[in-house]
Amino acid sequence: PAPGWAIDADVVVVGSGVAGLTAALRCAAAGLDTVVVTKARLDDGSTRWAQGGIAAALGEGDTPEQHLDDTLVAGAGLCDEEAVRTLVTEGPDAVRRLIDTGAHFDTTDGGDIALTREGGHHRRRIAHAGGDATGAEISRALVAAVREAALHTIENALVLDLLTDAEGRTAGVSLHVMGEGQHDGVGAVRAPSVVLATGGMGQVFSATTNPSVSTGDGVALALRAGAEVSDLEFVQFHPTVLFLGADSEGQQPLVSEAVRGEGAHLVDADGVRFMTGQHELAELAPRDIVAKGITRRMHEKGAEHMYLDARHFGAAMWEQRFPTILAACRSHGIDPVTEPVPVAPAAHYASGGVRTDLRGRTTVPGLYACGEVACTGVHGANRLASNSLLEGLVFAERIAADIAETRPPRTEPAAVADAGEPVALPAPEARTAIQRAMTRGAGVLRSAESLAAAAAELEALHREAAADAEEAGGAGGSGAKAVVPGVDAWEVANLLLVSRVLVAAARDREETRGCHWREDRPDRDDAHGRRHLVVRIAPDRT
Ligand code: SIN
Repeated sequence: PAPGWAIDADVVVVGSGVAGLTAALRCAAAGLDTVVVTKARLDDGSTRWAQGGIAAALGEGDTPEQHLDDTLVAGAGLCDEEAVRTLVTEGPDAVRRLIDTGAHFDTTDGGDIALTREGGHHRRRIAHAGGDATGAEISRALVAAVREAALHTIENALVLDLLTDAEGRTAGVSLHVMGEGQHDGVGAVRAPSVVLATGGMGQVFSATTNPSVSTGDGVALALRAGAEVSDLEFVQFHPTVLFLGADSEGQQPLVSEAVRGEGAHLVDADGVRFMTGQHELAELAPRDIVAKGITRRMHEKGAEHMYLDARHFGAAMWEQRFPTILAACRSHGIDPVTEPVPVAPAAHYASGGVRTDLRGRTTVPGLYACGEVACTGVHGANRLASNSLLEGLVFAERIAADIAETRPPRTEPAAVADAGEPVALPAPEARTAIQRAMTRGAGVLRSAESLAAAAAELEALHREAAADAEEAGGAGGSGAKAVVPGVDAWEVANLLLVSRVLVAAARDREETRGCHWREDRPDRDDAHGRRHLVVRIAPDRT
């Protein structure tokens, strides 16, 4: 579909989580004409689901250097140290500016910001809000600020593709505003700076903590635009997600690491703690180690899940400190005050993404990325808990500063008419097939064999979509099997593209490192593995 309408701006921000709204607010404050486009409502992304909090060296005796050390250890040799240093040194002030923007964090009786612990952190440095509703508070504050600043926002709009000018420089995005028809709904925001802040891709797996909107749209767009994408094999599986049955699919309730930070134990069905002895930090080891520990014990015991036991907190502490988790558990008939909570790992966070430099610039001029969609280098092979909200904040501010400094002139997109036409749209029903293939083949445990099977299933889905597109639209085509180019089909096209690239990277990385766990290559291979797998696809080869 060719864009039927167009508006002009200096900056278009795609996505409305902590990264997107921070970038938009800072750009607008710098006098840039800024448009925010988001796929659902302004507060519908992953940010509002974040529980535990935001990590920063705010506590007495804590320092950015110690935060850096913990981040590098979790990242298993693949963090970009300069990026981490930027994150941890600029982090505390970025959090203070977030407070100035209107976010209320929990405080101690003395009025200081209350700090908790999470996996991989040697100190209490996680600020939280509403007990376990940190993301919801951050989202509330940022959405309120965006409304107060009267920013131009376009909700319920799926961004399709990047528009570029005759020199290959960013010139805007094409988008489909839902509910406005297959053709009327397709338009363009023309702008010389595009900030991707579209969040993650948890929906490539059957069970995830991510909301349904997390379909890898930004990474897919960047791949189609010829930008470099890196480290996609490093999918973080959160160790403690409420277990609702092996066939429960889609977004699953998170049980924050902060519950372990406050002293909950992981136990098997016999009540035996199994993380002690595996790591000096036991239940508070980095996330990949705990996810592996749980999975291993599940295998040994032939169990579908383990348990998180925090009965000793008592009712008052559960109610005050973890009201969201308590309510979620009780709504599923589990009472953490009186019984251990069944938990199992589920897909949680993409540590990789669109490769950027320290100013958030991708390899396509004028295209920026921040938040989960980006790969700034701070997470390496495994993100440290609660570093993601911080990364969104810090790098969004850096992007806004770069755009405000460079103020690129507006140019005309070269090929608006061709925008929004992917090579092939799979049928929307392919979504479940992709998720199951990824869960079986590229989940917590991977092997050459499981990954090859996933790759074969994904390639078959891709070939089918390409054949249907050819039959429908190619020379002499009958048009019979054309997939209607709506949001569902676009999301599946994005899921399929990012899944194929992710599996290719996971096959390439023949070692176990961070959250990439190869059963057939159980050891870390520093001789070959200390490198980033960078993918760039020629735009006509997606
Ligand atoms: C959690 O609360 O356990 C999630 C924190 C994170 O993913 O960083």
